[in-house]
Amino acid sequence: MSLQAAQNQAATSATSATSATSASPPAAGPPAATGPSAGAGKALYGGKSTRRVTVHDIAAATERGEKWPMLTAYDAMTASVFDEAGIPVMLVGDSMGNCHLGYETTVPVTMDEMAMLSAAVVRGTKRALIVADLPFGAYQEGPVQALRNATRLVKDAGVGAVKLEGGERSHEQIRLLVEAGIPVMGHIGLTPQSVNAMGYRVQGRGEEAAQQLLRDAKAVQDAGAFAVVLELVPAELAAEVTRCLHIPTVGIGAGPDTDAQVLVWTDMAGLTGGKVPRFSKQYADLRQVLGDAVRSYAEEVVGGTFPQPEHTFH
Ligand code: KIV
Repeated sequence: MSLQAAQNQAATSATSATSATSASPPAAGPPAATGPSAGAGKALYGGKSTRRVTVHDIAAATERGEKWPMLTAYDAMTASVFDEAGIPVMLVGDSMGNCHLGYETTVPVTMDEMAMLSAAVVRGTKRALIVADLPFGAYQEGPVQALRNATRLVKDAGVGAVKLEGGERSHEQIRLLVEAGIPVMGHIGLTPQSVNAMGYRVQGRGEEAAQQLLRDAKAVQDAGAFAVVLELVPAELAAEVTRCLHIPTVGIGAGPDTDAQVLVWTDMAGLTGGKVPRFSKQYADLRQVLGDAVRSYAEEVVGGTFPQPEHTFH
């Protein structure tokens, strides 16, 4: 990230810190942009543009020092809510395995599942850039396999970019996709598709691991990726990677100093049952809200008070 961008970012943080106590954003649509892009209508979040976000918009936002939010999405209806709220980038993550399809990990997710849910998210949105994960087994054989599967997601599902895990180990795959005209988001640090080998642990701790993470980040950038996810790495290391790269870093469990943040939507909205990672803030309690609605409906059916005349045809 450039010095100009860093200065802009400092200005943005100061503005948002002061506005944090003022009124909350309206339920529909993002609030007007604040910070360096305010008034220009260009801001990725809160800007005026209604066309679909491109990777060029993302590079420009990072150059302006704007931070931007990314969320996962797995279906058309919730994706349309996020789109109306102004989320500029959505990830059809292979976290659909745990959060949507009932698997224990992301490992079993297939290309058919990814293609079907990606197409649904594209149909449900008008503005967000949709990034689809290449699931486990869809690119590890090599660049040609990666190109075949990424092409399917771009051509058939209509996504604007793909994401794949791995730094140095995936740079040939990234390079071929980029040469073929497919924008790629990298993903380093904790890479959940390798859970059987690495577990779910903070990555990059210790000098050697930190140096490897930096090498991975540079390999992803040199291969031509437009952004890179840093998952579960110490905040200081994520800040250093962000300083060293010119492409934006997207943090999840990587502290406050990355260019963007991503969260799994079911975690941040309180729909996930059971344990939620400590790095994920819960902004709502949808599990409670939905459970209450379902219990009210069930009780009214059992008690004979639903349906009422206004729900009935004659
Ligand atoms: O699949 C996913 O949701 C992800 C995010 C955690 C970055 O890869």
